[in-house]
Amino acid sequence: MLLQHLPFSSTKTQRMSEKNKATVLTGITTTGTPHLGNYVGAIRPAIAVSHDEHVSPYYFLADYHALIKCHEPETVRRSSLEIAATWLALGLDTENAVFYRQSDVPEILELTWILTCVTAKGLMNRAHAYKAAVAENEAKHENDPDKGINMGLFSYPILMAADILMFNADKVPVGKDQIQHIEMARDIAARFNHLYGEHFVLPEAVIDEHSATLSGLDGRKMSKSYNNTIPLFAPEKKLRKLINKIKTNSLEPGESKDPDSCTLFSIYRAFATHGEVEEMRKRYAEGIAWGEMKKHLFEYINEKLASPRERYEALLESPEHIEKELRDGAEKAREKSIPFLQELRKAVGIQPIGV
Ligand code: TRP
Repeated sequence: MLLQHLPFSSTKTQRMSEKNKATVLTGITTTGTPHLGNYVGAIRPAIAVSHDEHVSPYYFLADYHALIKCHEPETVRRSSLEIAATWLALGLDTENAVFYRQSDVPEILELTWILTCVTAKGLMNRAHAYKAAVAENEAKHENDPDKGINMGLFSYPILMAADILMFNADKVPVGKDQIQHIEMARDIAARFNHLYGEHFVLPEAVIDEHSATLSGLDGRKMSKSYNNTIPLFAPEKKLRKLINKIKTNSLEPGESKDPDSCTLFSIYRAFATHGEVEEMRKRYAEGIAWGEMKKHLFEYINEKLASPRERYEALLESPEHIEKELRDGAEKAREKSIPFLQELRKAVGIQPIGV
């Protein structure tokens, strides 16, 4: 057993020394329009990392993931365009980062099958997303606990493992709800390595505790599933309108207000400097009027978003530019995925006969 592992171990050592940069990888499911919550929680930190030459970032549009929960082609198409335009408009460094569309890298899907064949069904039975769907059916007293659940949803963690393992990512920045999927990717990788030799790096989830979580229009966490979002690049008028719609309490001007339970403040804090935030705390204590705070918040973030919004709109006008970036990204990704898949196929016994 040990001997059998030897040649592979040396391949791995070689791979590790070639790459002294950590590979950081994350995917964005293409089912919606980027909103302020996505921006401060995921996009802004990822773009900052894209400029760090000490890491090798892989960011991709998870369009095959989109099909699991969305059967509206126009939504998937439009979302891919908007997400790509957003990331580019915000200054993603596509020299350092590999920015691609999952569906442009067919090796990922081939790897998905290879991994499917080493993944225990029991592991998938335990996935939160699947269990939640079953629990919902049970709560409704459906006869079939699997009602409405497609195989994409059931085996989604395997596709996600393939996304990650295809590029031997070391770090995977994700939201807390995704931690289990990274653990599953590790399990699947370890199982493969055990059976076929050390081909995969075991990935680690990175949870940015410092990145802000925003509240949405109704005060709950800003999330597409609550339908309470503010689109990141909403046109100016719309942005003002949405900010005006944010729920506040009935305290009058002059009455002291609690910033820490306030949605307006949570958004302001995600954009403003430390000094500005402290200043605003004072104004809350002094009883700033809600109308005034809304006006201030709108003006403040509108100014910050104005120039990337302009670039975003220009990009939407020239989708061929976006397409070129994605194709170039896929080409870079495939420089890794094609030879690596070849290696993996060979490892499992799939290779040309007689050579
Ligand atoms: N499932 C992730 C989400 O819903 C998106 C995603 C797909 C992803 N593939 C990935 C994230 C690989 C990290 C790594 O947020």
